[in-house]
Amino acid sequence: MSPPALKTAAPTISSSLSSSHSRSQTTSRSRLDQVASHIDPTARMASTTAFNADVVPQAPEDALFGLMAAYRRDTDPKKVDLGIGAYRDNNAKPWVLPVVKKADELLRKDPDLNHEYLPIAGLAAFTSASQKLILGDESPAILEKRATSVQTISGTGALHLGALFLSKFYHTKEPRTVYFSDPTWPNHFQVFSNVHLPYKTYPYFKKETKALDFDGMISTLEGAEPGSIIVLHACAHNPTGVDPTQDQWKKIADVIREKKHFPFFDTAYQGFASGDLAKDGWAIRYFVEQGFELCIAQSYAKNFGLYGERAGCFHFVTASAADAESTVQRVASQLAILQRSEISNPPAYGARIAATVLNDKELFADWEADLKTMSGRIIDMRKALRSKLEELGTPGTWNHITDQIGMFSYTGLSEKQVLKLREDSHVYMTKNGRISMAGLNTNNVEYFAKAVDKAVRETE
Ligand SMILES: Cc1ncc(COP(=O)(O)O)c(C=O)c1O
Repeated sequence: MSPPALKTAAPTISSSLSSSHSRSQTTSRSRLDQVASHIDPTARMASTTAFNADVVPQAPEDALFGLMAAYRRDTDPKKVDLGIGAYRDNNAKPWVLPVVKKADELLRKDPDLNHEYLPIAGLAAFTSASQKLILGDESPAILEKRATSVQTISGTGALHLGALFLSKFYHTKEPRTVYFSDPTWPNHFQVFSNVHLPYKTYPYFKKETKALDFDGMISTLEGAEPGSIIVLHACAHNPTGVDPTQDQWKKIADVIREKKHFPFFDTAYQGFASGDLAKDGWAIRYFVEQGFELCIAQSYAKNFGLYGERAGCFHFVTASAADAESTVQRVASQLAILQRSEISNPPAYGARIAATVLNDKELFADWEADLKTMSGRIIDMRKALRSKLEELGTPGTWNHITDQIGMFSYTGLSEKQVLKLREDSHVYMTKNGRISMAGLNTNNVEYFAKAVDKAVRETE
């Protein structure tokens, strides 16, 4: 699309004709220029921009948002959306959590509610409750004041703030390298490279077993430059749905300690994965208990269904030490400056909803029930899909569908099969074979299983 300035510079046929009539004194050279620019208007306009294609090349469309647009354009009534990473109910509709509706009512009835700015670090009732939620109520890091938290623009904003902080304050002469799982949530690459942190990957998913490549992961972490930043998905790994076991987490922690790496947890699915908040927070709590200094990016998009409200939190936790409290205070002061320069202060609504629920015993219990509704439906869909594929005798093994956890399943379908599913059956999923389990329901799971069966058999 042309920038508006260029559009106004382009003469219309009628205006350029009438102007050439009226200016009878113009030199033939300028007339020629006018004709040339008329034939090829870009010839005259190209020189007006400092942002030509060499400087600002056309960027590719975001793959996931492109997929969503293609799904919306498809008019087939049988179409199935398995791309979107957002919960859908059994009628394939977005679901406002009942507890969020309750909190919303309470907020709207609050006579003291206003629309003033929040503090730079966000709503204190939200950040303190967020700490407790992820670290545990009785976490020594909270009791010993070794944690500081900043409300962010959802999980992405928390990742960005953490990445920015590390790029500024955690380096040798050279920037440290960040390690992501292979594969990972694709936005990780952009968020960290935007702040000039070089990245590498560690093996994570083994195609043959459709499970964790634990040995590959460990040996890469062992061989990484000491002090590297290791990004870890706390639970419900996106895109694979494969998490380490608790024993494997312990070994991962050992290697990170030995190599003096810096763990950076991304937690976007606490409570959404298993329905149990403590279970889904176990890895982070274990690392904190083991005395690591670490960062956490926490999102409330999925577990509260507050996708568009952008409620999230960044936490920095330092190890137990005599100067821990002052370390945390210094870190907090710098985080405040970074936040102020980027967003000034965070948005209020989503944080108010979450804080209302997190700080009220009854509402908290309601929320846990809602989490069970969402995670339970997804677990049921995993079981249904696996059993339908097994009933159909679809070539391959399908136990990974129920072994994996959370919103996503890495089906093992090839790109060719994914495209076939889209063309033949109007099923939309990412090219890497990832499906959002939330897009399946009792009305479409059989249709999808049959579509997969057909695609697998016809591409064998
Ligand atoms: C692994 C992971 N991290 C972070 C996010 C951040 O999401 P948001 O910025 O919507 O909270 C997501 C969302 O899909 C995710 O899957």
